[in-house]
Amino acid sequence: MIDIHHHLIYGVDDGPPDLETSLLMARMAIDDGIEHVVCTPHHSDAYPFQAELIAERFAQLQHRLDGQIKLSLACDFHLTVENILDAELNFPRYSIDGKAYLMIEFPFIAIPSAVNRALERLQTVGYKLIVTHPERYQAVLQRPSLVAEWLSAGCLIQVTASSFFGRFGKPAEALAHELLDRDWIHFLATDAHNLSGRAPHLKQTFDYVAQRSGLATARRLCISNPRAAIDGAAWPAQPQPIGLCEGKPLQFNLNKFATKTSASAPNTRSKAPLSPAEQDKPSFWRHLFPRRS
Ligand SMILES: [Fe+2]
Repeated sequence: MIDIHHHLIYGVDDGPPDLETSLLMARMAIDDGIEHVVCTPHHSDAYPFQAELIAERFAQLQHRLDGQIKLSLACDFHLTVENILDAELNFPRYSIDGKAYLMIEFPFIAIPSAVNRALERLQTVGYKLIVTHPERYQAVLQRPSLVAEWLSAGCLIQVTASSFFGRFGKPAEALAHELLDRDWIHFLATDAHNLSGRAPHLKQTFDYVAQRSGLATARRLCISNPRAAIDGAAWPAQPQPIGLCEGKPLQFNLNKFATKTSASAPNTRSKAPLSPAEQDKPSFWRHLFPRRS
């Protein structure tokens, strides 16, 4: 298997604090059946991408692991105004191995519609966008049609493997299942940060998906699609996303979880949810990416 979202590099974000932990995470991934890891340090306001330090530690890990597991370098790229301008001006910086596939992360609580313009701009300069873990965003749980919008805009979808087992709460678990059943997922990845809680386990989800959706689907999400993204290859043929062209809305409804959400969502961010109107209020985003007339 190939894990395209993994915070393996130590001391650069909220991933492992030291070399020892990075090496133990790599060992854990190998034992899980992962043969190739894409290292994805955050590039966010909290954790700016320290390119030189990251390159140095990436080389150190490659040296210490000595071919036991393949490593690629990319970024968990947060969509901030500064980051978008930077990526736009410096294609293909931040993409997987400097090819074209870029892992993007949205703000968790509110996703203003001006972001769509940002996605378009990144695609125009050549990036192929991979939306990371949509099932975990509060904004998506409130407005799941966002996933359809991103798919229709040509984005690819990566779901976190442990979401299928409730790691990010029952709503995220339910949405992950519906996305899987509709063939709206292109990648499964660990988004590993440490040795427990956010550990690099993919095999359990591979087996679960193989049993639920067939071995070919599990292999596509954990092997062949990640391979294409790492190679920067043309996007391989996929099953038709069920209900997308027909505009059939997702069945997922956050209200069904209303009384359970706070108790069952240990790692979702729990600020008061914003209404769609509030999410879209005038902001610096809109100033930067004005709507086309
Ligand atoms: Fe991540």
